[in-house]
Amino acid sequence: MRTINISEKAADIHSFIVMDVLERAKELEKAGADIVHFEIGEPDFDTPDVVKKAGIAAIEAGKTKYTASLGLRELRNAIADHMRDTYGVTIQPEQALVTSGTSNALFLALAAIIDPGDEVIMSDPGYACYPNFVSFLGGKPVTVPLLESERWQFSPDRIAAKITHRTKAILVNAPANPTGMLLDDAVMEKIASLGPLVISDEIYHGMVYEGKARSMLEFTDHAIVIDGFSKRYAMTGWRLGHAIAPLPYLRPLQKMQQNFNISANSFVQWGGVAALREGASFVEEMRAVFALRRTAMIDGLRSIGFPVPTPPQGAFYVMVDARRYCADSLKLSSDILEEAHVAVTPGIDFGPGGEGYLRLSFATSVENIARGIERLGRFFTNRR
Ligand SMILES: Cc1ncc(COP(=O)(O)O)c(C=O)c1O
Repeated sequence: MRTINISEKAADIHSFIVMDVLERAKELEKAGADIVHFEIGEPDFDTPDVVKKAGIAAIEAGKTKYTASLGLRELRNAIADHMRDTYGVTIQPEQALVTSGTSNALFLALAAIIDPGDEVIMSDPGYACYPNFVSFLGGKPVTVPLLESERWQFSPDRIAAKITHRTKAILVNAPANPTGMLLDDAVMEKIASLGPLVISDEIYHGMVYEGKARSMLEFTDHAIVIDGFSKRYAMTGWRLGHAIAPLPYLRPLQKMQQNFNISANSFVQWGGVAALREGASFVEEMRAVFALRRTAMIDGLRSIGFPVPTPPQGAFYVMVDARRYCADSLKLSSDILEEAHVAVTPGIDFGPGGEGYLRLSFATSVENIARGIERLGRFFTNRR
């Protein structure tokens, strides 16, 4: 008889609940239901034409082989130029590693620094995959609570209190998933000065409605920035991202890339060059549309009794406090999906600090937002 051997690591990793919600929503759709999607964390925009054309041209020109493991020189140059033009930060193209998505950049960055038992400090609530990656690598996620009453700001003092001799990094994400909040400049400056390496996930830069997104590299060069093309250029399915790291990290990152992935996809990287060189007007157009949707979502939520005291400054999510209806956000989101046919993400997906909240994405049309809000209004009226 064959034995099935599944490693503890694989068996123990948590599912990404939002994907479970999406899969259930898809099942209901297959059965004929009309679902409004507020769970999805991806722009509904099509990838810009310049990017598509560059990808297609690369395929047609036979640029379909492995690339250098660190990525195409043209793309690494474009990344360095983007950092200079957007933030006034000088990096050498040699500091950039091109990856298959920000997820992959994050995984490699964490793998480059974590030995068993090492600690990585992160926010709670925070992006669901962060603690899963750290645990999978044998590290220990150490969380610092964020409070809505404090505008979901990451407190440098509370971070400092969690630093031990095992702390390998502080992980920050601004604009943040799920809260949409930026970090105040003073907070970024303080976090940068605490001592540990900072890993800064800047994937939602470019999607900012209030304030300005600053790169962690403006505050310190003792940081690894991870970023990608998924959100800003509506390229989720292309799977393209990058890490920018101090030079001593590059050879270890490169060796892992060679072993695990060989390189990021070749023609996709040519799409990335076009995005960085020619995609600025697309980003601004999409941002302007998202700004209108953000207003529609916030106004709509307020009209059905959710005050939204801390409107998101960026990204495309709103966290709403639903504790007066149900403390169990997983149950509440499931009830909303089954009864009201609106898919939302339970706050618990982002850690215990998100429990009792629901995350609503406004990466959908104003018409869909209006339909979803109407359904939610009815659902919560019945619950009262
Ligand atoms: C904060 C954050 N980081 C990383 C990712 C993953 O992005 P990518 O598609 O580039 O792997 C996401 C996706 O939702 C995210 O929200």
